[in-house]
Amino acid sequence: MYTFGVHEHINAVLKEHQVDVAGEDNSFYTRFLADTSAIFELYLQLYEHHPAAEQLFNDVIVTIIKAYQQRSAVLKQRDQSKLQQEHWFLSNKINGMSLYVDRFCGNLQNMQTKLDYFEELGVNFLHLMPVFESPANESDGGYAVSNFRKVDERFGTLEDLQQLQEEMRRRDMYLMLDIVLNHTSHKHEWAEKAKQGIKQYQDYFYFYSDRSLPDQYDKTMPEIFPESSPGNFTYIEECNKWVMTVFHHYQWDLNYTNPLVFIEMLDTIFFYANLGVDILRIDAPAFIWKQLGTTCQNLPQAHALLRLIKQCVQVATPGMAILGEAIVAPKEIMKYFGTDNYTARECDFAYNATHMALQWDMLATGDTKVMLAAQEELLKKPYGTSWITYTRCHDDIGLGYDDSMIEQAGYNAYAHRKFLKDYYSGVHPGSTAIGALFSSNPKTGDARISGSLASLCGLEKALNEKDETAIDLSIQKILLMQAHSFFLGGVPMLFYGDEVGYTNDYTYLQDEGKSYDNRWMHRPLIDWKKNKKTEKKGTVEQIIFDSTKKLLSIRKQVHAVADHSNIVWLTPHNVHVAGYIRQKNGQRLFCVFNFSNSSSFLTWFAFKEKGGAPSVLYDHWSGKKYETGADHEFFVLPPYGFALLEG
Ligand code: GLC
Repeated sequence: MYTFGVHEHINAVLKEHQVDVAGEDNSFYTRFLADTSAIFELYLQLYEHHPAAEQLFNDVIVTIIKAYQQRSAVLKQRDQSKLQQEHWFLSNKINGMSLYVDRFCGNLQNMQTKLDYFEELGVNFLHLMPVFESPANESDGGYAVSNFRKVDERFGTLEDLQQLQEEMRRRDMYLMLDIVLNHTSHKHEWAEKAKQGIKQYQDYFYFYSDRSLPDQYDKTMPEIFPESSPGNFTYIEECNKWVMTVFHHYQWDLNYTNPLVFIEMLDTIFFYANLGVDILRIDAPAFIWKQLGTTCQNLPQAHALLRLIKQCVQVATPGMAILGEAIVAPKEIMKYFGTDNYTARECDFAYNATHMALQWDMLATGDTKVMLAAQEELLKKPYGTSWITYTRCHDDIGLGYDDSMIEQAGYNAYAHRKFLKDYYSGVHPGSTAIGALFSSNPKTGDARISGSLASLCGLEKALNEKDETAIDLSIQKILLMQAHSFFLGGVPMLFYGDEVGYTNDYTYLQDEGKSYDNRWMHRPLIDWKKNKKTEKKGTVEQIIFDSTKKLLSIRKQVHAVADHSNIVWLTPHNVHVAGYIRQKNGQRLFCVFNFSNSSSFLTWFAFKEKGGAPSVLYDHWSGKKYETGADHEFFVLPPYGFALLEG
């Protein structure tokens, strides 16, 4: 299709748009030339056979140029300074929090008044859950967007968002927003036009005039919300057709085989970049390409699309890193960092969802073997990319790690998963957790888990029973879980409310837009009177807040914690203790975590066998200094205790 030289063509378009290639735009030009072949190759992989491929490639180039030209001088400067640091986002000085603006403090204007709160806690990176327009009661927490560029009135205006971003920038804070790439709300303008029968817009989605193809797709596509939205297609009465809706019936899947969809969404990505987003969270990228006869998840074309987005962003708005929110099996997640020629050239970040779930596995079983079995895969993450590490987020906990990992640890996969589901839904006798099963699928036996960090760690039950010992133990578990994820490598992402121990919130059951989705039980409405208790010594809120703050500040002080792919797991001398070493430039931190409800013993040899035996270890957490003992003597960790030992 494309016969003349692509470089030559791009040069001509740059000229046409008066890009000063030999002057102030030179670094943009250099980046463009460096990435031209990749952009072209990836575009061809996806769209070579499309009848308008050649003309639309030109639109891709123009979109990139316009994005660069519309970028403010301040953001261009910020791009340069980020480019000068080697992978700015690997730093140990970034601590994040994810929150719903309305549930946290009402609206975007109020957010400005809360920036001190984050600074005090040590959080300098905010993930604002979707703030763009989304129909009330059919919003999936904002992940059903009806207008990608209009801030929903509930939150305020675009100006409010811009002002917040500017204030955050003044305070050296980073911002993350979502691009909901996979689908739109059924109320989006494109969907409305499609309903009216306009073919051009029906082609933005996957439309079918009868059930024959949908039935074929359904044979191999898993269901995401089998209880509230079974199947993957929805009948649209207005036009008498079926449309693909992988998530809820009101979320219509965009059709990326149509390059027009790609170009529109690329332009939206740049719109967010030019608002000053530092990390863009690409929602549900595993789903963005569909192919009959497959699960329609993790397809090679989905990776090509992400790579194409990454290269375009790298050229026009290089200060914006990309997080791919793929919550998939360990082997699959690695591919989101890029493979082969695109290693470390796809997503800069992924969620370490496998490890998150494995932390919950360790907490329930008191055993680290399954977690360790998964590490070989997780350690393959390429240098220059990073994880978002976390214990809880707005979503459910999926036990998505491989059966083989469970079996390697000597368990039966079915029985093991059943135990975990029973444990966290509070069914298992002896469980202190109060949670619930989410999206149970009777056909497959699968289920995920809902519940807040505090409730799953036993705080809700302990408070209900006014059991002081159980309260202390649950706080210890909360901190163990947080500490384990904060030091693992990657940017820790707290979930709002967890910094003060919010337990489950059951008011969602009274709200028709939420009652069908029990993930709302762990998305609290912040009560600032409760948060104020952080100022009163001895309250649950104060203990959790101050301890979280201390952990975050230790993270910022110890440079070895930055994610330089520098994690080594300790040999499991004691199956209850998860231990890893973080080391860099002569600094070494031994992080040891006891997932047992009894004290655990670790021989001092455990600290010596990986070389450079330390004679003294300083615990940043307790402030104690230890002289390392003889190889057969023990370092003792209390129930659910942990230590962060430098030496
Ligand atoms: C992502 C979001 C989740 C949402 C889904 C569909 O997984 O985290 O909350 O339901 O995408 O948009």
